[in-house]
Amino acid sequence: MLNLRFIRPCLFSPFLNRSSSFGFSPKQTINFVLRSQMGTLTTSSSQSSPKLFFRQLFEKESSTYTYLLADFSHPDKPALLIDPVDSTVDRDLSLVKELGLKLIYAMNTHVHADHVTGTGLIKGKAPGLKSVISKASGSKADVFVEPGDKICFGNLFLEVRATPGHTMGCVTYVTGYGPDQPQPRMAFTGDALLIRGCGRTDFQGGSSQQLYKSVHSQIFTLPKETLLYPAHDYKGLTVTTVGEEMLYNPRLTKDEETFKSIMDNLNLPYPKMIDVAVPANMVCGLQDLDSKAS
Ligand SMILES: [Fe+2]
Repeated sequence: MLNLRFIRPCLFSPFLNRSSSFGFSPKQTINFVLRSQMGTLTTSSSQSSPKLFFRQLFEKESSTYTYLLADFSHPDKPALLIDPVDSTVDRDLSLVKELGLKLIYAMNTHVHADHVTGTGLIKGKAPGLKSVISKASGSKADVFVEPGDKICFGNLFLEVRATPGHTMGCVTYVTGYGPDQPQPRMAFTGDALLIRGCGRTDFQGGSSQQLYKSVHSQIFTLPKETLLYPAHDYKGLTVTTVGEEMLYNPRLTKDEETFKSIMDNLNLPYPKMIDVAVPANMVCGLQDLDSKAS
């Protein structure tokens, strides 16, 4: 098991060049940027960050979003998946293969209760890949992250922010800051913040007060133009911004007491997948693999 906390910046990256804290000398970085501007790459999410390849993928049964990110200008095209779902692993890996990416991390924002993570299946199909989850989740994984850690893929990185409240181990992954990182920044919020909503707080060590504090201190403090990508959407919406949610989120724009009252009175049904999904996800989906093999 690896813990990223003591290794910053980015020392865990398998693509580290030890002559530079970000893996490359300034000259090499310039070369990569120039190459991407010459048309090698086509699917960046951001005009000012031509290196980032980004895709939002959807799993319809649980309305889950999986995110694929890669440094397309690095020779190895290192990539990671955030919140993969077991039933769509083959689709995700086909895309990775087609694009010539090298998948190095399969990450979860938290222990999901509504689907089984694809991490275990992916580990069996992508040699060398590491699973990643927060230490606070109590789940099994190859790499445990804590607030402030950086997860590097090529010259890009994600910063880890603790956003408990939906579950005790929820984290938000935020793209890096600096001239070579995506602008605007992008935050993958899991279930801590949904578009015009938030995750429930009545299971898995949830706490409405903690969630309120997490969102206001860790997400709403990001620049207002930061793009927010949640783990789910049930209405077909795909992305929002910090500024938008600060104005229009019907729950999190309220004061803390009102928010607590809203969350205490949601009267939601018992999650139908929780008894299957949580035990499997506590071992990063490997339990699901074991039961299928036996
Ligand atoms: Fe969740």
